[in-house]
Amino acid sequence: MSKTYLTGIQSTGMPHLGNYLGAIEPAINFSNTSDGRFLYFIADYHSLTSLRDPKIISEGIYQVAATWLALGLDTNKAIFYKQSDIPEIFELAWILSCHIPKGDLNRAHSYKAAIAANQENGKKDLDHGVNAGLFKYPVLMAADILLFNTNVVPVGKDQIQHVEIARSIAQRINQQYGEILTEPQESLSEGKYIPGLDGRKMSKSYGNSIPIFESQKRLKKLVNKITTDSTGPDEPKSTEDSLIFDLYKLFANEKEVINFAKEFEQGISWGHAKAGLFEVIDKRIAPFREKYIHLMENRNLIDDELELGAQKARIIAKETMTRLRRNIMGLKS
Ligand code: ADP
Ligand code: TRP
Repeated sequence: MSKTYLTGIQSTGMPHLGNYLGAIEPAINFSNTSDGRFLYFIADYHSLTSLRDPKIISEGIYQVAATWLALGLDTNKAIFYKQSDIPEIFELAWILSCHIPKGDLNRAHSYKAAIAANQENGKKDLDHGVNAGLFKYPVLMAADILLFNTNVVPVGKDQIQHVEIARSIAQRINQQYGEILTEPQESLSEGKYIPGLDGRKMSKSYGNSIPIFESQKRLKKLVNKITTDSTGPDEPKSTEDSLIFDLYKLFANEKEVINFAKEFEQGISWGHAKAGLFEVIDKRIAPFREKYIHLMENRNLIDDELELGAQKARIIAKETMTRLRRNIMGLKS
């Protein structure tokens, strides 16, 4: 039996180069070259745990959708939809939340991190600023996964616990009612984290990211923000522990990397090195940028794709819910 692969990305703004190399590009390549059923979606309701502005939420949905489509997602090969178009996800989330001990959610990383931050800041109420949506975030994610009989969830390291929670709820339900849910496994995207402008993991929350489809002008500015040491322009520079070199390697071909290393050895000014980095990033992104802009200017094209994806996804969603309503609630439909 061929497997079902599913992954989602939150709609918290334009994806960055880390999301591109670490998640979106591998997912697109995978669906283009492997057998199986693929579901890729925009986790827009998940973003409601942190966002409060409808304009920003809606803009984020279009930015994420346009990014996937511009980068070449083939929607004949992968079902592409947004979470908010699939009401069955939220019905399932309720069923799941009634089958997971509350204590398991107390131990979820994102909730624990919020509590730890409050503790550090001397807050008396450790739940200060934590909405119930953030607390139940892993349950909604479990519903995203379990609704579609997912076998494999390609994710980054930080999401492993969430997939474990989904698996654990599925196991509990299967023990109670018979084998009615597929128990999912995570598949870890290989490779190291893509570093951001300050050398830490590139992340929206660190403010160190390079959004994929920035204009060339903005991209140049961001690359110029990378801090460098005071070695003079003619002095040899080490490629070890050089953020510029590390980023360059991710975007350049073999020959370009060898030449760049030689320039480092012979002495290259940081200005030149940054210009080189800008060029290889831009060369990789430029072919997709026009399509991104076209989609953002013609949002009906994005709406049509997501609508079609939702129709396909809901066929599977309804089948699962009929099965669960029958087995768990004794309902006929
Ligand atoms: P962010 O940390 O910017 O909020 P997300 O957590 O929304 O990013 O990540 C979405 C997807 O992109 C996940 O699959 C995650 O593993 C991947 N990802 C995020 N940042 C990086 C990075 N710096 N390098 C590689 N992959 C990343
Ligand atoms: N929590 C994931 C993230 O922040 C996004 C997500 C939501 C997801 N639902 C999912 C990922 C289901 C994989 C499967 O990156």
